[in-house]
Order: sequence, then C-alpha cells, then structure tokens
Amino acid sequence: MQAGATTQETSNQTAVPPSSIHTGQRIGVPRETFPDEKRVATVPEVVEKLIKLGFSVAVESGAGDAANCSDDTYRAAGATVLDSAAALWSGSDIVFKVRPPSADEVALMREGQILIGFIWPAQNPDLMQQLAAKKVTVLAIDALPRMLSRAQKMDALTSQAGVAGYRAVIEAANAFGRFFNGQITAAGKVPPAKVFIAGAGVAGLAAIGTAAGLGAIVRANDTRAEVADQVVSLGGEFVKVDYEEEGSGGGGYAKVMSEGFQQAQRAMYAKQAREVDIIITTALIPGKPAPKLITAEMVQSMKPGSVIVDMAAEQGGNCELTEPGRVVVKHGVTIVGYTDLVSRLAKQSSTLYSTNLFRLSEELCKTKDGLVNVNMEDDAIRGLTVIKNGEVTWPPPAPKLAVAPAAAAKPVAAPAAKKAHGHGGGDSEPMAGSKLAIVFGVAAALFWLIGASAPPAFLSHFTVFVLACFVGYMVVWNVKPALHTPLMSVTNAISSIIAIGALVQVSPWSSAVDRPNDMISWVAAAAIVLTAINMFGGFAVTQRMLAMFRK
Ligand code: NAI
Repeated sequence: MQAGATTQETSNQTAVPPSSIHTGQRIGVPRETFPDEKRVATVPEVVEKLIKLGFSVAVESGAGDAANCSDDTYRAAGATVLDSAAALWSGSDIVFKVRPPSADEVALMREGQILIGFIWPAQNPDLMQQLAAKKVTVLAIDALPRMLSRAQKMDALTSQAGVAGYRAVIEAANAFGRFFNGQITAAGKVPPAKVFIAGAGVAGLAAIGTAAGLGAIVRANDTRAEVADQVVSLGGEFVKVDYEEEGSGGGGYAKVMSEGFQQAQRAMYAKQAREVDIIITTALIPGKPAPKLITAEMVQSMKPGSVIVDMAAEQGGNCELTEPGRVVVKHGVTIVGYTDLVSRLAKQSSTLYSTNLFRLSEELCKTKDGLVNVNMEDDAIRGLTVIKNGEVTWPPPAPKLAVAPAAAAKPVAAPAAKKAHGHGGGDSEPMAGSKLAIVFGVAAALFWLIGASAPPAFLSHFTVFVLACFVGYMVVWNVKPALHTPLMSVTNAISSIIAIGALVQVSPWSSAVDRPNDMISWVAAAAIVLTAINMFGGFAVTQRMLAMFRK
C-alpha cells in the first residue's frame, strides 16, 4: 500500500489540487447514498486529528449536511471539499464510509484502495465478491474482535448501538402520553412509567440507563445471566426466567434457547406485557433472525396507550406485529419499528463513529506519517480485515483470546462453582493456592524477624499497619471498580475518626495532669472543625455518588 501511495498521489492531481506538498495518503469521505442515512464517516473535529497523523482528507460536498457538518466547517478543519463522488473515490487512497458501498460506489473503486466501514461480510457475500474483484483492501469495522480490550476504542458496533438504545427510549417517550418519572403535584399524583427491556446487550443497557435516568421503573431480561449485574448497576431490575439454562453462546453473544426455556420466557414476558407501559426489544442472536418474544396476544393484553419500540425490526423484529421502518398502532399500542434509530441522532453517532475510525487509523499508522500499514500480525487488524489486496481473508482464524473461555465454558454449573471459590478457576487454581501459601510463609518469616529485633512500640504500630493494608486490600478488591470513587470518599469520611484525638485534647474531663496548654487546645478545636467538614462532606458526597447508581 505504501508504495502505491506515491503513484496514487500523482494520479490524484487532476481530482484534488494539492494546496501543499503532502507525503501522506489521502482519506476520502463520500456522502452516504443509502436512503435516509444521515451519518457521515468523519466529522470536522476528527479531520484535524487525521491531518495530525499525517493524512490529507477530502470530503464530498454535502457529505456532512444531515449531521450538521457543513462544507465550510470541513474546509476550516483542513479538508479539501470535492464536488463529485467520482472525484472523491478516484482521488482517495483510503475511503471512510458508514454503510456498505452500493454497486455504483464499488464501480468507482480502483485497485489498491483501502475501504473502511460497515460491511457485514456474512450477510453480503455478493458485495464481498465484487470488492475482491476490484483488488482492494477492505476493513469491516463490524468484524472487529470486540473481546480484545484494546479494540474497545474502535468498537463502532458498541458506540452506534449505544446511540440507538438512547434514541429508542426517546422515541418511546415521544409516543407515550405520560411522564416517565413519578410526580406529586397539586393536580394529583402521577405514577412512574414502567419500562421493560428485552435483551440487555449494548443497545439494551443504553436504553436501561436512559429510561432510568428519566425516572421510569425499569425491568430487563436477557438470556445471558451475566448481564444481571450490569442491569442493576444502571438502575434496572433484572427479571429472571424461571428455567435453568445458560444463554451464552460464546464470544459474549447469545444462543438459540431450548423450547422449554422459550415457553417459560413467554409466560414471563406475557406477565410483563400486562404490567408495563413501554417495552423496548433489542434481543438478537448474531446470524439468526430475531427471536419472536412479543406475540400478538401480548400486545393485545397491554394497556391502551402503551408503546413498543422494536429495535430488532431490521432482523425481522422481536414483536410479531412490528412493521420494519414504520410506526403502527395495533390494539391501541403504538409499535415503533424504525430501522434508522442511529441516524436519527446523526451528529452524535457520526462523532462517535468517526472517533472509532480515528482510533483505528492510529493503529494502522503507528508511525504517524500518514501511511497505512495493514498489519495482519495484529489480532485486532487481522480480525477486521476481510479482504486484503483482493484476497478474501474472512472469516479470520479464531482470536487467541477466545480459545480459553470457550474451553472453560463447557458445564453449565461451572460458573457457579467458580464463583463459590472466588477465583478464576481452571487448571491454574492449585498453582494460585500454592503461590499464596509461599507468599504467606515469606511474610510470616519476615514478620517474625522484625518482631525479634524491633522495639515493642514499633511492633505494635507495625501490626496495625499490616492489618490496615490487609483490610484495605480486601475492601478495594471486593468492591466493583465502578464504585471505587464513592469508596474513596467514604473511607476519606471515615478517616475523620482522628477527630476523637482532638476531642480528647479539648475535653474538660481529661485529668489536670494530662490537660494540654491553651495553644494545643485551640489547635485541637480547629482540627475538630476541619475533620467535621471532612466527615460530613465525605458522607454527603458518597451519598450523592451512590444515588447515581440507584433508581
Ligand atoms: P447485542 O448482540 O449486543 O445484544 C442483543 C442482546 O439480546 C444480547 O444481550 C442477547 O443475549 C440478547 N438476547 C438474545 N436472544 C434473547 C432472548 N431470546 N431473550 C432475551 N434476550 C435475548 O446487540 P446490540 O448491539 O445491543 O443491538 C441490539 C439490537 O438492536 C439488534 O437487533 C440490533 O440490530 C438492533 N439495532 C437497531 C437499530 C435500529 O435503528 N433499529 C440500531 C442499532 C442496533
């Protein structure tokens, strides 16, 4: 690719007059052609960052209009604005897109080009063939191995689903005739809306957080039991299906459940449908049609004025009565089947998406010279490279990380057993136990040595110090990372126990012999005032922080 850059730059001269000598490759951002797609693959703020990485950026005129990014803002950020799609595609070494390219767009591509965007290789085999025939390199952002923690900053599926989950709640609120939060007003008492979220993946969790933030009572269900904690931490209640079956199908995704489970789940969903005002469905199993969770009878049993937002509409819908892309009212229930929820918040989703692409660009151009290196040795890059110079490289080999969990996930009872031990489990457990014994042995020997030689006063302080370290360790490691900030503020408040020392100093009941002089009494009084602020302030701040996690 790098060798091609120079020749491409030369051929670009007709399309893009170079305003300055630029040695890096050119990134092109065309206007999205898919009907109603309002997103743009790169926003002006990110153009500046790409230029700092050594690239030059060209944008098709009007590409960002629907996402509130005018041609002028792109120009101000340093991009070249081109009038036609043809000039854009022919003049770019790398093309950033949102939706998979149309047949017309593929026709505009040329050998050696790099295309980055959503491709969905499993669902689009014909497109893959067309792209391969063009001898291009294609990086499908949807094929990113999401299990790699390094990949999170590039995870466009997550950033976009988060926007969709948020927007689904806003659409529900728009169609719903009442407040989300409960209110007591002079005009009467308003009960909070009850929202049920089916499927707590990225979109579902975003919907839970948004609905809880608006003050609704939120319940959620998912076949993967491991998401229960996340539901609760976002202010929702996890509603279990009364049937023992593990729902994880590997790689963090769900599997198709047994008939017995589905029956029990239908009974639970029917009960929820009768009770709640709003249902938001997000249930999806990759590569399969969306499971039908809300039947016509359940819709009929809902209160008039209730709302269903079916986020899985594009994959056939989780509700039997959904009409993809449309809002319909059936049995008095509004059913929203929009398939463009992300596009309905175009500025936000474009900004997040282009940041994902910028992070990917950083990985592709570690030398910061504007030249891309598609390094197939890198797990993340390998995962999302679906075509390399015309050769189809999809599906990728299983990422190294996925091997261990898949092997460990055999028996359903295993996670419970692991939890009971409180360790990672597996073959490493005896090792970890023996290591721990060695550490304790060495620590005990050291303690004995210090105890034998140190003065008694030191020993008592040292004992307190060691115990404090132990208690601190246990407290910090047993509290979820999300709660570490409130933990810090509460421990800070508890540290105000030193106020007792100051109280003793100013106490009128202390014996005459122990009574300090006036100076010390004043200092102690000041210490009491300051520690009181620390104590009450610490508890108040903790309370407010914890409130953010509660409904
Ligand atoms: P995800 O794969 O992260 O989440 C799907 C969740 O559904 C998983 O947690 C899975 O365990 C759960 N699930 C699967 N089968 C289930 C069942 N039978 N019962 C209960 N839960 C079940 O997917 P993500 O990214 O959260 O997206 C969710 C849905 O929203 C997808 O259908 C996606 O295509 C759709 N979506 C729709 C948009 C729109 O504009 N309408 C925009 C973005 C996403």
